[in-house]
Amino acid sequence: MEQRTQHAERIAFLGLGHMGTPMARRLLAAGHPLTVWNRTATKAERLVAEGARLAASPADAVRDADVVITMLAGPDAVRSVADAILPALREGAYWVEMSTVGPDVVRELGERAAGRVTLVDAPVAGSTDKAAAGELGILAGGDADGVAHVLARLGTVTRTGPAGSGAALKLVVNTAVLGGVALVAEALALADALGLDGDAARTALARGPLGGAVARAFAQDVHFGADLAAKDAALAVRAADLPVMEAVAAHFTAAAADPETVHEDISHAVSHIRGRAARAARTA
Ligand SMILES: NC(=O)c1ccc[n+]([C@@H]2O[C@H](COP(=O)([O-])OP(=O)(O)OC[C@H]3O[C@@H](n4cnc5c(N)ncnc54)[C@H](OP(=O)(O)O)[C@@H]3O)[C@@H](O)[C@H]2O)c1
Repeated sequence: MEQRTQHAERIAFLGLGHMGTPMARRLLAAGHPLTVWNRTATKAERLVAEGARLAASPADAVRDADVVITMLAGPDAVRSVADAILPALREGAYWVEMSTVGPDVVRELGERAAGRVTLVDAPVAGSTDKAAAGELGILAGGDADGVAHVLARLGTVTRTGPAGSGAALKLVVNTAVLGGVALVAEALALADALGLDGDAARTALARGPLGGAVARAFAQDVHFGADLAAKDAALAVRAADLPVMEAVAAHFTAAAADPETVHEDISHAVSHIRGRAARAARTA
């Protein structure tokens, strides 16, 4: 593998959604020559104005890159982009897969990339605010030595073990987050049903063991879509027998099926869950 000058790697960043845009911006600000690609090209305009090069295709984006980062919606998006970039990746490059896709997809990508590029799974904990501040919790599986300093621009790196372990731990972490948020929503639905003041119930819950989940359920200025939450819950229940999480997945799937909440932050899914319970009580 050829020597790289630290901090000057050519980076290709694919996926400029709510998370990808602030992450890519941090890498650009740190001085990395940055090529970006996004399915909807208009979302790249601000980064291009700040100095990034816009690639015409995923293959064009990765051709000369030392480090390729993918931050895409989920397994389907990552597989589709993988089809496009695998033939074009430079031998010896790193591919850091940061989306939430679960360990099976990482294993599949690892087999396809084997021998030519080093695949690192590095999904993240923390939302858009942490992405902008470079304070994400990065769960890095596989041989991440060569990219640890790049990832450090985005947050705190925890090495989780072999390839796929970062993606696996991310599902564990999100199961607790989504389960906690859904439980807070149901506790508040119960408070509504019992005629309690919602703010008083929220304050009481915030003082208990689910205090962090209450904070996330009412978080402002962050964006984690209900569609992505439904995807993550589904990934978890496919990996193990999790009856509570099945119910949680059903809540987020319902929020993702509603055009008013599908792309909204999961705090709106909390209102969705409470609203559903209230409607069910009225029709009972
Ligand atoms: N948001 C959070 O708080 C958060 C926190 C931790 C982890 N994550 C994970 O990080 C990843 C990105 O999240 P996000 O909030 O940035 O999502 P997002 O805003 O919905 O962006 C999704 C990105 O994936 C692209 N995409 C979707 N389907 C595609 C396809 N078939 N082919 C190519 N590109 C496709 C989108 O392109 P277009 O722009 O063309 O639609 C967009 O760039 C997800 O895996 C999510 O679960 C999110």
